[in-house]
Amino acid sequence: MQTIRSITKMQKAAKQLAARGKTIALVPTMGNLHEGHLSLVKRAKKSADVVIVSIFVNPKQFGPKEDYKKYPRDEKNDMARIKKAGGDIVFIPKAIDIYPDNFQTYVTVEKLSKTLEGKSRPQHFRGVTTVVAKLFNITRPDIAVFGAKDFQQAIVLKQMTRDLGYPLKFVIAPTVREKDGLAMSSRNRYFTAEQRHQACCLYYALRTAQEMVKSGIKDVRALKGEMRAVIKATSPKAKIDYIAFTEFDSLKPVSRADKSTICSLAVRLYNVRLIDNMRL
Ligand code: PAF
Repeated sequence: MQTIRSITKMQKAAKQLAARGKTIALVPTMGNLHEGHLSLVKRAKKSADVVIVSIFVNPKQFGPKEDYKKYPRDEKNDMARIKKAGGDIVFIPKAIDIYPDNFQTYVTVEKLSKTLEGKSRPQHFRGVTTVVAKLFNITRPDIAVFGAKDFQQAIVLKQMTRDLGYPLKFVIAPTVREKDGLAMSSRNRYFTAEQRHQACCLYYALRTAQEMVKSGIKDVRALKGEMRAVIKATSPKAKIDYIAFTEFDSLKPVSRADKSTICSLAVRLYNVRLIDNMRL
């Protein structure tokens, strides 16, 4: 496995691979990799000759009060895990190279970035789309793989890929969960054992909604009420930021849920903001 830290070297390597007829898959990450990320690497490996995993904790997608500085970083461990999962190149650019002095060009997906997460994190998606556009430009992938756990992010990036005409296959891979249902996330490690147990409230609430829809209860107000009750019972301290029932690609809210509806939610627990979602 090769490690590349320079943008110019990465561009050169991508060009050479393309010239040799090799297909490239890109898995963008912010490091601190868990099984969820590794499942993306394995998915990428199935569809391309060469898998590039980028590690870049992107300052532009963190709000001023968010955890950019304390975001967990563990490069050595990440490298070992990527290698084991089948990654071929790890691309670790420097912030000053991605955002040189006087950087002033951003990519914004207008409507989809403003709802759900966008309401609580106004500049977040602008940071995500800008860095991913830069990573696409540098690595020229044939395939890009993102996790369904960050569902809105995947929808926003899919729209960007379409709107800007990137010639690549956009893959959204399923969320990987712990045995008790908690969606894997780098932020789970902020919790103590007891707090971590309470973090399952998101999964329990989503499963409740899924079961209710299956049994014929489709009214979104009723579903939200029950989900709130489940969250409160599992974690009395949890603060619900939003619970939303939307169409999948447009993120338009629905008042009656069905199998094609996606339910997503954000909950703040002991100062950690967790998100999760489920197709009903
Ligand atoms: O999902 C993430 O880890 C990040 O938002 C991404 C896509 C790597 C962009 O920085």
